[in-house]
Amino acid sequence: METHLSRAEKLELIRSRPGGKDRLLSVLLDLQAAEPSHCIDEETAVLVGAELGVAPARVYDAVSFYAMLSPAPQARFTVEVCESAPCHFSHAGRAADLAERALGVRVGEDTPDGLFALRAVPCFGACDKAPAVKIDGHVYGPLDEAGLRAVLAQYKEAE
Ligand code: FES
Repeated sequence: METHLSRAEKLELIRSRPGGKDRLLSVLLDLQAAEPSHCIDEETAVLVGAELGVAPARVYDAVSFYAMLSPAPQARFTVEVCESAPCHFSHAGRAADLAERALGVRVGEDTPDGLFALRAVPCFGACDKAPAVKIDGHVYGPLDEAGLRAVLAQYKEAE
């Protein structure tokens, strides 16, 4: 069952990070990483602003500006498959099919446990490794279904 960080846990994390207002981004990233829902909700944004002496609007701006921050709950890991032409005409379909079978969801969906989001993206520079997936910045390929399941199992175990 997913839980949320308590107010006390959030305060402890914020106060453990040295520095002044310039630590806003690092504090938000650390809070998001620690939060089971992997987002910065309104309550957290207000708390961060109050603790760092930053206007709430500036905190909201940061959360909406940076792609790695999210105001809404998101999956722990993002599994990306390439949708660009070279892979599309060679192996991208296979990568998407592999990932859909291994995760049990379609491209664009998240797994019910909130662990993985499956997304189609433009070329991520692994054209020579297709069929490949990219998970939180790490490229794996070429993969077959067993290989992909083994990679996903490592992420599950690490969580
Ligand atoms: S075209 Fe698919 S990874 Fe480059």
